[in-house]
Amino acid sequence: MLEKKIIEVRKRVSQWKKDGLSIGLVPTMGALHEGHLSLIKKSVETCDKTIVSIFVNPIQFGPSEDLEKYPKTIDADLELCKNAGVDLVFSPSPSEMYGEGHILSNDFLTYVVPPYFYTDKLCAKSRIGHFDGVCTVVMKLFNIVQPDYAVFGQKDAQQLIVIKKMVKDLDIPIEIISCPIVRDKNGLALSSRNQYLSEDGKKYSLALNKILVNIKACYKKGITDTKSLVETALVFLNNHHELEYLEFVDKNTLENKTVADGDTLVLIAVRVDNVRLIDNCFII
Ligand code: PAJ
Repeated sequence: MLEKKIIEVRKRVSQWKKDGLSIGLVPTMGALHEGHLSLIKKSVETCDKTIVSIFVNPIQFGPSEDLEKYPKTIDADLELCKNAGVDLVFSPSPSEMYGEGHILSNDFLTYVVPPYFYTDKLCAKSRIGHFDGVCTVVMKLFNIVQPDYAVFGQKDAQQLIVIKKMVKDLDIPIEIISCPIVRDKNGLALSSRNQYLSEDGKKYSLALNKILVNIKACYKKGITDTKSLVETALVFLNNHHELEYLEFVDKNTLENKTVADGDTLVLIAVRVDNVRLIDNCFII
């Protein structure tokens, strides 16, 4: 039997579709901030009706990750959605999404698994199975909501590329819209996880954007060898930083680049105060 919230979404969407209205979906895990809000604004601008999903998806978290302590601010999230002109918030429970007792291992659940080429690198190296969990939940959300458009942030660049690939490979009739990274006044990319940072941690976390800005400047001056570009980053790091990766890839295919060119996407992941932060930029 379908759960109540899923039935409700389907009913509302089916009426909107009968009325000829276009529908935008903004998938989130809540703890909404200005980054999420920019996606919501884009959907409200582009579509007649906007649905925001708020679901901390257990199957995209590894066993030692922050599922239990992931920030939850549902009242503030609902208020933000209301003020932003969202038409419906879909916030199912894990059992509504994955069944009573929600057995989450892939022995018991049908998963959508992106190609290995996209998941043998970057965030997937330290987050085994993460993108299987992301694609599976996003596919479920797509099937429940059946939107015309779905909006994602460039902040999670690998996620965006993997989802675009899934949409293409599986002929999903949804247009993916991407939105630029929203940063605070110091350049730190907004993230729900930034609230785990101490005051000092916030200062150290500015290194990520500084590294990206510096790499863009070096590239502009003519340095294209990615080994040399990585070296320019090291001056911004100290013993408060644990560099997980700094990589140069093709912005569409995630293919590694040894020489940077106009299609290069630069991605970085660093642990500060044991908080894992990611950022990225197009080299031009
Ligand atoms: P979450 O981390 O909540 O992010 C939801 C969306 O907001 C993603 O598309 C993400 O890229 C975007 N976003 C987050 N911070 C942003 C920023 N500073 N600027 C612009 N966009 C930003 O990503 C997820 O949730 C989940 O993996 C999800 C896709 C919902 C599947 O569970």
